[in-house]
Amino acid sequence: INYQQATFLTSAPDIRALPLDEGIEVAFAGRSNAGKSSALNTLTRQKSLARTSKTPGRTQLINVFQLNEHQRLIDLPGYGFAKVPLAVKEKWQRSLSEYLQKRTSLKGLVVLMDIRHPLKDLDQDLIHWAVASELPVRLLLTKADKLSPGPRKKALLEVTEAALAFMGDVQVQVFSSLSKQGLPELEQALTHWFYP
Ligand code: GTP
Ligand code: MG
Repeated sequence: INYQQATFLTSAPDIRALPLDEGIEVAFAGRSNAGKSSALNTLTRQKSLARTSKTPGRTQLINVFQLNEHQRLIDLPGYGFAKVPLAVKEKWQRSLSEYLQKRTSLKGLVVLMDIRHPLKDLDQDLIHWAVASELPVRLLLTKADKLSPGPRKKALLEVTEAALAFMGDVQVQVFSSLSKQGLPELEQALTHWFYP
């Protein structure tokens, strides 16, 4: 797949406003500031396709990028951002689980977690929902450049072992938008979802 050809399609305030549930889409989810938008830019070799920010909670809308007529990448709003009101958090959790359950074109979920703080409660909830919906999950331990090789490998081994407990198709890899470590593995996983 030529990810470089990705273009911005639309921003949706909620799942009802998403494009028609046709073709294949892959979603990127994770805590605020985990590096979702950065990973999408790295994947598509575009500096500012998805907006990145030092301020957590920047991506409030569901941003939809089109690879071609039948294939989409979805940048989901980050969760776990402390300053968001509880009612908004709960609404988002409901719509996220509904999206994972009902979206027929969704064929895979990439869950991004800062390699220094993996598998927080909300990450685990999300992975459980995905597994319950029989969705394959790719866990990305992001910002891998922030750790030296030893601790990086340790984190990968720990999360890989913890991932077994989800009893689903949950694969783990390290990733860095800065060094591009893990980019080929991510591309390969996505290709399997887009071309099963
Ligand atoms: P929200 O949209 O708020 O949910 O955040 P996000 O998950 O889209 O994170 P974003 O890509 O905006 O990145 C958040 C911050 O982390 C930015 O300051 C990025 O520059 C930084 N960042 C993202 N990926 C990496 C990485 O691989 N390495 C390093 N060192 N910093 C990164
Ligand atoms: Mg973002």
